[in-house]
Amino acid sequence: MIDVLLGLQWGDEGKGKIVDYFAGKYDVVSRFQGGPNAGHTLYVNGKKVVLRTIPSGVFHEHVINLIGNGVVLDPVSFRTEYEELSALGIDLKKNLFISEKTNLILPTHRALDKASEQAKGKEKIGSTLRGIGPAYMDKTGRNSIRAGDIKRSDFRNLYEKLKSKHLEILDRFGFNEDLDSWEQDFFGAIEHLHQMNIVSGEYFINDLLQSGKRVMAEGAQGSMLDVDFGTYPYVTSSNTISAAVCTGLGVAPSTIREVIGVTKAYCTRVGSGPFPTELFDKTGEDLAKVGNEFGAVTGRPRRCGWIDLVALHYTCMLNGATQLVMTKADVLDHFENINACKEYKIKDSITRELPFRLDDEKINPVYEIFKGWNSSSAESNTFASLPEEMKKYIHYIEQYLKVPIKYVSTGPGRDQILEKK
Ligand code: GDP
Ligand code: IMO
Ligand code: MG
Repeated sequence: MIDVLLGLQWGDEGKGKIVDYFAGKYDVVSRFQGGPNAGHTLYVNGKKVVLRTIPSGVFHEHVINLIGNGVVLDPVSFRTEYEELSALGIDLKKNLFISEKTNLILPTHRALDKASEQAKGKEKIGSTLRGIGPAYMDKTGRNSIRAGDIKRSDFRNLYEKLKSKHLEILDRFGFNEDLDSWEQDFFGAIEHLHQMNIVSGEYFINDLLQSGKRVMAEGAQGSMLDVDFGTYPYVTSSNTISAAVCTGLGVAPSTIREVIGVTKAYCTRVGSGPFPTELFDKTGEDLAKVGNEFGAVTGRPRRCGWIDLVALHYTCMLNGATQLVMTKADVLDHFENINACKEYKIKDSITRELPFRLDDEKINPVYEIFKGWNSSSAESNTFASLPEEMKKYIHYIEQYLKVPIKYVSTGPGRDQILEKK
């Protein structure tokens, strides 16, 4: 069976930490979509590690980690990540596997991402510029090069053919940066990729499932960045919801058991696009400061606001979330009031549904207001001993979403998490 863990907001909900916390109970951790646009932060023995493409199960020796076919893999950033982990003593040779159908990100995909964002001007998506959009476009456009292709004798030809297509487009964009050193790095990284365990991901995982192994599928980004259901066009280029597990790993829907949704106790977004509960005042600044809200990949400041239950209700529905983890609850410890958006007021009507395009509407969030608890939640070592006002806040959210919050995270550390018994 597979349990899915994914983000319900605009990414950076703390998925990495939570996967690492749960991973001990699983045999396999697998990424099914996204690429090095993800930045999943873990603290292991007090040391901070940011994972990009490699699943967050790698700090548990017995766990097999699989990069699924739904992922787009940049050999260059993958090699860097691999070397960083090896330097920490992690033996990835033994328990990291890559699906042969994983699509590769080429240097020209990164260039295209940059050129396309520049051309969009004010309407730019705020992409991480890791080549994600162009790589997925080549996948659906049936032009892509996949991990298994590196073993083919005509690999270089495949590469040159795709590169020349890209260069034509780059030319039209007026892009004229020198790509030679990028290309050198790329071919060095391809040599490194040759040494990896490249497998038929779908047989690999189905065999493991057949033999009774427990799998955790680790989502990247968040449901509000899903290419179909997110705040299009300000989204990423993959499906980020639970349905993508099946296509991103090659498994049947019936193999999925729990869908664990992760949400911050408030809300953040990095990059452009609508964000109804965004705060532009001192409270927003305080959330950013206390929450240390800077992107794990790009270092960009994250926009901050109150929790948006209208959006969360929507993403619980899309994913079929069976339980929730609330992260960064400690960040709210010292606010006078805490707000939760329960409805949107659009023109004169009140709704609990998301409009077609959030950026076409002036959305006024309607808030339920909670008294702050003004004490340190990190000092509680059981759920029951959390501040009463915090428990009221949690209870309200559970009632609203009709999904239980089973865990509350009160700090970035591996063990700073409380289970509601
Ligand atoms: P991910 O992309 O969903 O894995 O999340 P990121 O790693 O991008 O961002 C989450 C950030 O919050 C990281 O810096 C984590 O170390 C940190 N974090 C995770 N859980 C908690 C928590 O409960 N409290 C606090 N204060 N920080 C947390
Ligand atoms: P994790 O897995 C937060 C955002 C970017 C941009 C939009 C498109 O760490 O939660 P892309 O590079 O995919 O073309 O960017 O999506 N974005 C993320 N925001 N966390 C992420 O991943 C993100 N991955 C992409 O900021 O707005
Ligand atoms: Mg992140």
